[in-house]
Amino acid sequence: MSFQNISDLNLQGKRVFIRADLNIPVDKDGNITDDTRIKAALPTIFHALQQEAFVMVTSHLGRPNEGSLNKKFSLEVVQQRMSELTNKPVYLVKNWVNDHFELRKDEIFLLENCRCNVGEKNNDKSLVKKMANLCDVYVNDAFGTAHRAEATTYGLAIQAKESCAGFLMAAELNGLKKIYENPKSPFVAIVGGSKISTKLELLVSLLKKVDFLIVGGGIANTFLKAKGFEIGKSIVENDLIEVAVNLINVSSNGGGKICIPSDVVVTENPVNGSCSRQASINNIYKNEMIVDIGLKTSIMFEDLITEAKTIIWNGPVGLFEIDDFSHGTKCLAKAVASSSGYSAIGGGDTVSAASKFGVLNNIDYISTGGGAFLEYLQGIDLPAVTSLSNKREKS
Ligand code: 3PG
Repeated sequence: MSFQNISDLNLQGKRVFIRADLNIPVDKDGNITDDTRIKAALPTIFHALQQEAFVMVTSHLGRPNEGSLNKKFSLEVVQQRMSELTNKPVYLVKNWVNDHFELRKDEIFLLENCRCNVGEKNNDKSLVKKMANLCDVYVNDAFGTAHRAEATTYGLAIQAKESCAGFLMAAELNGLKKIYENPKSPFVAIVGGSKISTKLELLVSLLKKVDFLIVGGGIANTFLKAKGFEIGKSIVENDLIEVAVNLINVSSNGGGKICIPSDVVVTENPVNGSCSRQASINNIYKNEMIVDIGLKTSIMFEDLITEAKTIIWNGPVGLFEIDDFSHGTKCLAKAVASSSGYSAIGGGDTVSAASKFGVLNNIDYISTGGGAFLEYLQGIDLPAVTSLSNKREKS
């Protein structure tokens, strides 16, 4: 798919509407816990400012009900951080679809949470039209939301006078294309996290591509149960055991090899300081639960990662937030970072784990997307990219 990039357009004096993904994590006291997405949006914003455009930026934050604005969903928290990071005035515009506001050069106009506008989610035509009237150029830099066909991610790209991808969107698509269209072998994927159900399509798609599919976390538990092992009180999806059996069959019939832990860490109580032990997978008691991969498994997985030429990682392999159960995820994070293969990671938990273990700087590609990253890897067309590409074909 081809589309215009921001550097193809002359933005001088134009009203530029940037759809970013500033959906950042905020703690219960209202503090940003990770500002990566704000920083990732800055190159496009700076470029537009340097080109002497009138700059508007919007994003969603969370999933508010349309038609109301609760403080928890306000971009106010982003406004402050963006102003610190850019050293520019950042104005928060509230009812930006219906109320008139004056843009000024060299200042950033942050348009309040776009998901508060009625019609955003369903890509309502009249909302899209009103937004299109606000701008001369629409820039989509929200890779993290590229899998949503909403008014600001889909409809506006088609309706605006000119549309293009921002630097982040283009970089994300290039990084992922490199890994997914022409991966060097051995290709290793690590898929962890708690549920097969949320990653089933990903597993199916990866099995066709990779040489080794390492599974960990709750996902591995369902595979272990499918293979007939006792997994005690471990998190498991019983209704997906048959699906896991089918995946194991695909794996043995020429698909990528599914790598399941051979030993694990188990405990009766998943909190720091509780009693835990290393256990072989055929020695787990009914009152225990799996909270991490075991030492032998860590070494086996590390070896595969070290030899790999291409690595994709999504999802931790244990309860890494609890230090006592973080060893496996830490070992894999370090192995991914030190491997000479090309590595790409995505998803909030995975990036937090890589950050916790201090390896972010040694990963080749870190996606700002969670769902969008997964959908891309499943070979699903991302609506935001399709609309930019359709726009190019029409113009
Ligand atoms: C994300 O955090 O994955 C993106 O911002 C998309 O958010 P959404 O799942 O609420 O659409």
